[in-house]
Amino acid sequence: MEAGLFLAALLLSCTPIRTSPLSADACALQQIMKDKVSYTTGKAVSGCVSRSTVGKPQEVHVLQVKIEAQMGQFKLNVSSVGRTTPPERKMLFVIICDKACFVTLHSEDLHPTFVSNNMVYGDARNVSSTFNSTSGEPLVQQVKKHYGGITSFTELENPHHIHFRVGEDASSPEDCVVQPGFNAWRYLQTEFVVQEAKGCTSPGVKKREEVHIVHLQQGPEETSSQPVEVKVNVVCPEAKPLQDLKILLILQSQPSVTWNIDTQRTVSIMASGKYWITTFPSRQLNESVLPDNKQGLIGLARKRGFDDIASYTDIPSATHVTLELHRCEPEMKTSPPTPAQRPKAVNIVEAFFILSQPWKCTDDSIEIVVWKRALEGLNDITDITLLDPRCRAEQNKTHFVLKKYLGDCHTKLESGNQARNKLILTLASSLEKIEVPFVCELPQTLHLQLYRTRDFTWPSTPVLEVNKAAYLQVSFRTAIAQTLLEVEECSLQAADKEPQQLLIQPIAPLGQAGTVEPTEATLGRELHRFSFVYSPAGGGPFPPCATLSCRVTWLFNGSTIGKTLEVTLQDTRPPPSSLGIEAVVGITFAAFLIGTLLTAALWCIYSHTRPVAKMQPVPTNAPASESSTPNHSIGSTQSTPCSTSSMA
Ligand SMILES: *[C@@H]1O[C@H](CO)[C@@H](O)[C@H](O)[C@H]1NC(C)=O
Ligand SMILES: *[C@@H]1O[C@H](CO)[C@@H](O)[C@H](O)[C@H]1NC(C)=O
Ligand SMILES: *[C@@H]1O[C@H](CO)[C@@H](O)[C@H](O)[C@H]1NC(C)=O
Ligand SMILES: *[C@@H]1O[C@H](CO)[C@@H](O)[C@H](O)[C@H]1NC(C)=O
Ligand SMILES: *[C@@H]1O[C@H](CO)[C@@H](O)[C@H](O)[C@H]1NC(C)=O
Ligand SMILES: *[C@@H]1O[C@H](CO)[C@@H](O)[C@H](O)[C@H]1NC(C)=O
Repeated sequence: MEAGLFLAALLLSCTPIRTSPLSADACALQQIMKDKVSYTTGKAVSGCVSRSTVGKPQEVHVLQVKIEAQMGQFKLNVSSVGRTTPPERKMLFVIICDKACFVTLHSEDLHPTFVSNNMVYGDARNVSSTFNSTSGEPLVQQVKKHYGGITSFTELENPHHIHFRVGEDASSPEDCVVQPGFNAWRYLQTEFVVQEAKGCTSPGVKKREEVHIVHLQQGPEETSSQPVEVKVNVVCPEAKPLQDLKILLILQSQPSVTWNIDTQRTVSIMASGKYWITTFPSRQLNESVLPDNKQGLIGLARKRGFDDIASYTDIPSATHVTLELHRCEPEMKTSPPTPAQRPKAVNIVEAFFILSQPWKCTDDSIEIVVWKRALEGLNDITDITLLDPRCRAEQNKTHFVLKKYLGDCHTKLESGNQARNKLILTLASSLEKIEVPFVCELPQTLHLQLYRTRDFTWPSTPVLEVNKAAYLQVSFRTAIAQTLLEVEECSLQAADKEPQQLLIQPIAPLGQAGTVEPTEATLGRELHRFSFVYSPAGGGPFPPCATLSCRVTWLFNGSTIGKTLEVTLQDTRPPPSSLGIEAVVGITFAAFLIGTLLTAALWCIYSHTRPVAKMQPVPTNAPASESSTPNHSIGSTQSTPCSTSSMA
């Protein structure tokens, strides 16, 4: 997940599921006052293009605008983005309004001229009575006759903002033949403000949860491969915008329409087609099956516990839809909503975790690292736990970090190679908790791990203390309850010291090492466990790092592989002083093999040149159960100057 996700602070509170006192029928949609629903489309009421001005003195664009209001206002942005003709090309706009229209013009450094029947722009009137026909084909013919050609003709109703791209196309038809429902996207995008945006909200009580339904009616033939961009903005020009507003967005269209949702808010989303959230562009979220009529959609929202349909909008065709919600923070703080069930719709906090997948499973642990900056703007998360609330992520300034034993925290192991749990997120501004279930893959490889204690208490350590008992575990994840491998030998190679020292041959006699403890396979792994003491003979200086390696044979196919583990050597008590400084390592391994008669052996290794090794068998009658204690926490695995990664 990239840095700086920038979502505004939000509250994701609970959505009480409750039976609504009103039925869907009782929701009488009424004009909504302050909210603004707008959409942008390239579709026009009618239109056409032609190449009849190519090679003529100027481009001629005709806009025929119908206006319902008394005096129509709209913006016209004329640009030359992607234009192929030279910038000095002259261009003429013929603007025919059915009523007086007031046009705000942005034309960058282009200098189009205007002819109009009824248009006011700036403080000047440009009125011309050249054209007595005010619509359609006759208008096209008049303009064509008058100027010797026509580049485009577009009929629009109640436009709010017209983005017009000038330019001619030699591949356009010779004649401009007016077509109804013309798709003018190549040269024009019009933003419309939905005049009849409606909702049904219960009077009185100010709600902090609301649903917005967008019903996009365009047919499959109008659907481009580009997703429809949906923006949700909460504004309050006069005060602070409402923070903890919970929004359910229901987006219905035919299934080939995909959606891209851009919001600074926590919204829950139900969409008929696949959708993306702008902040996580790499991952697509899946569609829901939604009813395709008004009553059905309103009924769905009600089932989700939303009594207020803040807006319901039918949109004929769109590339962009914007919901601008006018919601202000009240003067006095109200008490937070009570916890209850949330609708099964994906919200942004949840989507963030689904998409960023901050979990990782190792051979014996679940690890979660969440970078707080990536959460910036999402509702403040105060706490992250696993299903077991005692398994809580620790936090420092920059991260949430959780590392827990795979056998704890109600983690379920499935089919030998998967672990299942849930993240439970607590949000600052509400009592609601968000649950994010997850499954993570467990590695299917051979592992070597070193422990400090006889009971192989999790977590393992990268540190090998000299002159002290150390506990070595070889593990392999297997779906079948059968011994699959045999540990042939293990050895230790101290850095800077040639040659590698053979340390252990577990099959050899145990000597005084003690009893063999059958070890139960844990966490679906076959385990082989040994103990040994590493005493550098002579007690002299030893290098900081060493490599433990074991050779393992697969019983069923006889092949042998090696596995290594880098460890840091650490002195915990003064070494014996009587022995020569360059004496070779002496190591004793006591080994006990789980559930088998492959018994552990205790071996001393002597240098062929200096037979001064020191042997320290370790009694091995300890319960050999890998376990964890509740107090294990992040950071108990020490960092060391040596790499602790192991490799085959
Ligand atoms: C006009 O349109 C161009 C190209 O789409 C855009 O870059 C510019 O910002 C727009 N200007 C206004 C004032 O909307
Ligand atoms: C319309 O009025 C503006 C501003 O006075 C003027 O610059 C422009 O040339 C006029 N256009 C036409 C076609 O008369
Ligand atoms: C419009 O004007 C043209 C000439 O410019 C004329 O031939 C035509 O009859 C007029 N039509 C109407 C409906 O006035
Ligand atoms: C969407 O569906 C596909 C195929 O059914 C699945 O692989 C994918 O995980 C789903 N994505 C999400 C975010 O649920
Ligand atoms: C917080 O913890 C993470 C993960 O352990 C670590 O990478 C990061 O450096 C720590 N940040 C601070 C400020 O200690
Ligand atoms: C023997 O089995 C192991 C474990 O499945 C496998 O990794 C290895 O490649 C096999 N060796 C041969 C020679 O088939």
